[in-house]
Amino acid sequence: MVTMVGTQKDFGNSMLELLELEYAAVEAYELAISKIEKDLYKEHLKEFKNDHLHHIKQLSKLLQKHDYEVPKLSDTPKGLLTKGKVVLANLMGDEAILSAMLSNEEDTNTAYKKMNERTDIWDDAIDVLQQSFEDEKRHKKWLEQQKA
Ligand SMILES: [Fe+2]
Repeated sequence: MVTMVGTQKDFGNSMLELLELEYAAVEAYELAISKIEKDLYKEHLKEFKNDHLHHIKQLSKLLQKHDYEVPKLSDTPKGLLTKGKVVLANLMGDEAILSAMLSNEEDTNTAYKKMNERTDIWDDAIDVLQQSFEDEKRHKKWLEQQKA
């Protein structure tokens, strides 16, 4: 899936899309954590999931501050897609689950890259978007290293 997050005309709407992608990431991590067998993998996935929960908290706070209605965690279309990858991967074992999560992380990396490149970023969102992008790069890097 090539994410469209970050391309919306209105910055606030892009933030809402980003939040939805974060929810989807958490859903996918929850599923992956429940399915993956190796403890070392499980620990890392738990840590990454917590980073995503932290992003959700921060994004929600910013959106509320700017008078946007913040959606609740639910089975979003994005969630079904990201989880779908993990469901399929589960048939093939731990390495395939990690590959599915890498594919999801490629989407979040793309989304944060686009968000950080925007020229209409809210002043109070600059730090949050940069820090979260750093988390996303770290997640992707770790997942890539497991393939080597
Ligand atoms: Fe991530």
